[in-house]
Amino acid sequence: MPFARITGTGGYLPPRIVTNNDLAADLAARGIETSDTWIVERTGIHQRHIAEPGVKTSTLATAAARAALDSAGLQAGDIDLIIVATSTPDFIFPSTACLVQANLGVGGAAAFDIQAVCSGFVYALATANAFIRSGQAQHALVIGAEVFSSILDWNDRRTCVLFGDGAGAVVLSAAEAPGVLATRLNADGRQQHILCAAGTVEAGKVTGDPFLRMDGQAVFKLAVNSLVQSARDVCAQAGIAIDDIDWMVPHQANIRILNFISRRLGLSDERLVVTLDRHANTSAASVPLALDVACRDGRIRAGQTVLLQGVGGGFTWGSVLVRI
Ligand code: UT7
Repeated sequence: MPFARITGTGGYLPPRIVTNNDLAADLAARGIETSDTWIVERTGIHQRHIAEPGVKTSTLATAAARAALDSAGLQAGDIDLIIVATSTPDFIFPSTACLVQANLGVGGAAAFDIQAVCSGFVYALATANAFIRSGQAQHALVIGAEVFSSILDWNDRRTCVLFGDGAGAVVLSAAEAPGVLATRLNADGRQQHILCAAGTVEAGKVTGDPFLRMDGQAVFKLAVNSLVQSARDVCAQAGIAIDDIDWMVPHQANIRILNFISRRLGLSDERLVVTLDRHANTSAASVPLALDVACRDGRIRAGQTVLLQGVGGGFTWGSVLVRI
């Protein structure tokens, strides 16, 4: 049975940077109070990238995919599986993965989206791993991409300051040695109400509430507890000790969540890859974007063990343990 290895990474952020001060001024003009101090102290976020109106998820996803293909030294035609994790698809259908495939100028490979909100990338990576291990794919493009700004209520300061737009991607290829050491996915649908965008289109009209709503404190507690347990489970499955993890690349939601997790696991904060200060929370894009940053700046090196973790709406969470 073949193994699967990450052979390339890529990322793309829309050029427009919105700082906390920009956002505070914008909200103040509408009578809503927030501040750089509050946002930094409670979350660790300093700025986010926001797509221009009309820029779609497939555009960001395609740019990240091209960068990942370049880094793997592959052509789009070498890819036989495309999975896009997103909660902000361009359309109800076709899938964003099919749009990316068309943008790359190829056809024939399997292409589909995965919807697991901020856990979407680890769900997609675990799925691609299963395709490769079972011999159904040789080279998979696994992408997390979001224009999350499109589902934010810009009058709700409890949520609109937390998120940003972007895309990250990896190429996962069949290999003789692992690669992906273990995967662990979980969900608890009974917690759906704590983080949701509970609207849809019906008879040509938006019904329900199409904006993201969150019970921040409930999500915070569940995120810490579920990711600590998930890290322990995935390491046990792979037969490695927590201390053997060289780098943790968790979903980038809140620096306080990340620090709680690393401390509960007994890992020093130096082993955490943190991009939320510059990217904010980009949902399904946050893990592959952070992985790409740390691979390109030379922190993550060949032979190292990396824990990728996602957590978010559904409620969903999961871990993928990889050797680079
Ligand atoms: O990607 C999915 C995963 N998402 C997450 O992991 C998010 C998890 N949750 C969190 O990160 C945190 O709960 C938040 C950052 C969302 C909130 O931090 P908190 O420390 O839990 O604050 P809080 O909700 O308890 O609010 C504290 C105060 C409240 O005022 P009162 O009631 O004490 O007077 C809020 O109204 O802060 C107020 N507040 C704000 N003030 C200024 C809430 N948002 C803001 C804001 N600016 N943007």
